Amino acid sequence: MKVTAFVGSARRRHTWSAAERLMKNLQSFGEVDYEIVALSDYTIGTCRGCKLCLDDGEELCPLKDDRDKLIGKIRTSDGVVFASPNYSFNVSGLMKVFLDRLGFLFHRPEFFGKTFTNIVVQGVYGGARINRYFDFIGKGLGFEVVHGCCLNSMEPMTDKDQEKCSRTIYKLSRRFYSSMIRKEYRVPTLFDLMVFRMARTSIFRVLDESRRDYQYYHRKGWFRTDYYYPVRFGFFKKGAGWVFDYIFSRGFAKKRERRRKKEPEWSSLITSPQPP
Ligand SMILES: Cc1cc2nc3c(=O)[nH]c(=O)nc-3n(C[C@H](O)[C@H](O)[C@H](O)COP(=O)(O)O)c2cc1C
Repeated sequence: MKVTAFVGSARRRHTWSAAERLMKNLQSFGEVDYEIVALSDYTIGTCRGCKLCLDDGEELCPLKDDRDKLIGKIRTSDGVVFASPNYSFNVSGLMKVFLDRLGFLFHRPEFFGKTFTNIVVQGVYGGARINRYFDFIGKGLGFEVVHGCCLNSMEPMTDKDQEKCSRTIYKLSRRFYSSMIRKEYRVPTLFDLMVFRMARTSIFRVLDESRRDYQYYHRKGWFRTDYYYPVRFGFFKKGAGWVFDYIFSRGFAKKRERRRKKEPEWSSLITSPQPP
């Protein structure tokens, strides 16, 4: 199995060591090849917001950087780790610029069956929320998410602090490895099901064949399937799926009607305050 960690610190200190420790643990559990990618070693452009990737295809992006090389590393991995220091109560800028480059993949998720986790390293406070943010990112990209961990690196670190970090990483490594070797897909929760039905209905009702998201969903057969991947739903979830389809179809039909009539979108209705 191959695991790749993407590190969002420009120096090889605590975040890097934590990723390395996780990888070594995984190797002690089974046959694992790993790569630790320092994002700072790659050229990653800052998104200009043209949305060409979302609407018409990621190959049209005007930025020429290492995005595809980095995504290629995810595609060839069974497990992926995003590791970032806590900077101003969020991920580092480097990590955020990288996440923005993956933006189109939230529209067209593809990493089903791969395991994802995250590591946040901080001086004092704020990391738990970043873990939750990363969990959300992982889920949005289609991964099997193992809840990440947060480590404190305030120096000087005592032996006890070091031990605590090692224990936390070890526990995360065990959970990550167990998820990675599991063969079946996870059964989606009701919330997951709702998100899928909402996304596919909005794409089906609001977009058309000219848009890349529509083409992707069509090619994947997602306009007809119960979920992104094969699952056997019981009666309750099957019924819930139909209800979600009905509710979202009605909602998005109205939006399409507005588009057809060329009524203004809500954003253009917001006017700047006029001077008295
Ligand atoms: C610009 C900057 C902002 C930071 N903001 C926070 C913060 O909001 N909360 C916190 O607990 N630590 C904060 N830290 C501390 C880092 O998270 C901590 O030093 C971490 O170990 C850095 O990771 P590294 O050793 O891999 O570079 C900040 C550090 C820097 C350089």
